[in-house]
Amino acid sequence: MFTAAALQSDSKREQYAELAEQARGLLHGERDRIANAANFAALVYNALPGLNWAGFYFFDGSELVVGPFQGKPACVRIALDKGVCGAAASTRQTQVVRDVNVFPGHIACDAASRSEIVVPLVFDGALLGVFDVDSPELARFDDDDRAGMELLARTFLQSLTGD
Ligand code: SME
Repeated sequence: MFTAAALQSDSKREQYAELAEQARGLLHGERDRIANAANFAALVYNALPGLNWAGFYFFDGSELVVGPFQGKPACVRIALDKGVCGAAASTRQTQVVRDVNVFPGHIACDAASRSEIVVPLVFDGALLGVFDVDSPELARFDDDDRAGMELLARTFLQSLTGD
């Protein structure tokens, strides 16, 4: 017997799998990091419901610097020991924050943001940056979103190698 939650979870997984295929098609044949990051951010922002920011911070060797994104203007530089982005970058673990107001050191770029997910981008063992997605809804992201966003992030990274 299927519960409503299990059905919802299955359809979420399917949505992310479909979105990853769309991203693969969109980025195929292009390896420019900025071009692919811009199109990737626009695709994710417009495809998923309940978002107010989606985009990249790239590691410049000492801190994170904002890259292509969709949403309101954002803070430009984030130290590795600051915010949800810094936590994802320094631990190299996806951060799923149900309520940004209780995350120590959360950086509020858009006051409307209530929850957030940040996926680290690691390429050949090196930190490339993070992919950051914000929502005005409390607890917008769960473990299915974690798996889905990690799949999307892998698709982005693969596009840079031309695979
Ligand atoms: N909230 C992030 C900062 C980036 S904005 O959300 C676009 C953080 O705490 O790292």
